[in-house]
Amino acid sequence: MKSFWDERYGEADFVYGVEPNEFLVSAARWLPAGSSILSLGEGEGRNAVFLAMRGFNVHGVDGSDVGLAKAQSLARARGAQIQTEVADLAVFEPAARSYGAVISISAHLPSVIRNRLYPLVENCLLPNGIILLEAYSENQLARGTGGPKDSDMLMTVAKIEREFPNCEPILLRELEREVREGKYHTGMASVVQFIGKKKA
Ligand SMILES: C[S@@+](CC[C@H](N)C(=O)[O-])C[C@H]1O[C@@H](n2cnc3c(N)ncnc32)[C@H](O)[C@@H]1O
Repeated sequence: MKSFWDERYGEADFVYGVEPNEFLVSAARWLPAGSSILSLGEGEGRNAVFLAMRGFNVHGVDGSDVGLAKAQSLARARGAQIQTEVADLAVFEPAARSYGAVISISAHLPSVIRNRLYPLVENCLLPNGIILLEAYSENQLARGTGGPKDSDMLMTVAKIEREFPNCEPILLRELEREVREGKYHTGMASVVQFIGKKKA
């Protein structure tokens, strides 16, 4: 899998663009001001840099060193500082009670990885911490506009409810929206969006 992403990010362009994800922008007001944020599958840095420029302390984790090198170059170009870590989310251990929020934008993972990782994600949040996630839904399989072609890696509202039992939904919905994020995310898409607050 790493070689797949390294090859994709080996392209000269920022393959998902340099603008932040629209859902993240629209929901950023829910993120505790000035907090530390863990970004799962950060890739080329567009979301981390957006958050860093708004005063968050961002820790972006991704399996692709090629992607994270581009993330650091984007941060330098924008005069922002981000912390990046090359790690496989299948074994990554976020520190407990350390983050005000965790974001997961198009970080599609197989259930075997999610089932180990997501309890650790809930546990790495500070009290009242926020999870903000957008992922293609299972209904995206019928479309040719992006995302993995494996329903196990795609989300549903029910999967979110099951996989984040310790977070109270502030927003949890599946919807269709136009996604234009570089050449691999290219049109009307079915997505699941989640903002959850860690239960006290
Ligand atoms: C579709 S890209 C999204 C990148 C970024 N979040 C964005 O919105 O631009 C998915 C990212 O997840 C990362 N990823 C996938 N599986 C991973 C794993 N097991 N461990 C670490 N990173 C992984 C890939 O390297 C890739 O950067």
